[in-house]
Amino acid sequence: MVSCRLLPVLFILAIGFIQVTGEHPEDVPCEEETTTRTTVPSTTPTTTPTTTTIVARTTTRRRCANIRAPVTPFLRKNGYWCSMMFTFGANSTMNYDYEDAVTDCNINGLVIGSLETDEEKAAYIKLVQETILYDLTAFWVGASLNTTDHKYYWDDGLAVELMDPQPTVVDPNGHVAWFINKNSSVPGYGDYRVVAKTGLGNPKVNANMCGAPGLQF
Ligand SMILES: *[C@@H]1O[C@H](CO)[C@@H](O)[C@H](O)[C@H]1NC(C)=O
Ligand SMILES: *[C@@H]1O[C@H](CO)[C@@H](O)[C@H](O)[C@H]1NC(C)=O
Ligand SMILES: *[C@@H]1O[C@H](CO)[C@@H](O)[C@H](O)[C@H]1NC(C)=O
Repeated sequence: MVSCRLLPVLFILAIGFIQVTGEHPEDVPCEEETTTRTTVPSTTPTTTPTTTTIVARTTTRRRCANIRAPVTPFLRKNGYWCSMMFTFGANSTMNYDYEDAVTDCNINGLVIGSLETDEEKAAYIKLVQETILYDLTAFWVGASLNTTDHKYYWDDGLAVELMDPQPTVVDPNGHVAWFINKNSSVPGYGDYRVVAKTGLGNPKVNANMCGAPGLQF
């Protein structure tokens, strides 16, 4: 039987191959910083990032050129965050174990990602709605409790640190996940909860986002 962890890994390898046959990541020209990205690359081929607004190539603004995985750049206050998601295949009912999520990020040279801007959250939700063929309910995100002030902070090293809003603690021994809001009639992008690391809550945590810092200013 294929372990839970193997599936996302296999998907990312497939995407890497597809990218090599298409555009070489380092040869993608830079876009203007004002360009709004509406896609996040995922682990399925249909979402291989496409560059729609191309401006003259520069040599200094390769926003995620330091990262080999097929990430998308998001502009943040302190620089670019290069992010991608890990998901399961069609009709999956699997949970994503937190320890597996950490491993899946690390073997790709990434860490579990944070969220800073509305653009990032909106892009992920749009991608989930348009491409994910199962009921994706929550992503693991990189945040942890500071035991001195008892507040949760993003810990990917780039995001503005204090989580706002703070997560709801369901399981104090758990980890932070982002439960997405896919209902366009309901305002907001969802909420953060500290839930069991197995991902087996109701609803489940059944996706992961990984990233690394890109170009910094
Ligand atoms: C997923 O479920 C839908 C609806 O039940 C079905 O049509 C489709 O074939 C399933 N896809 C896979 C890959 O099992
Ligand atoms: C935890 O919070 C305190 C008070 O804000 C701060 O001084 C300390 O550096 C934080 N610790 C870590 C590990 O971030
Ligand atoms: C979306 O939210 C609206 C308003 O709360 C609700 O009436 C509707 O049933 C929700 N749709 C889904 C698919 O959950």
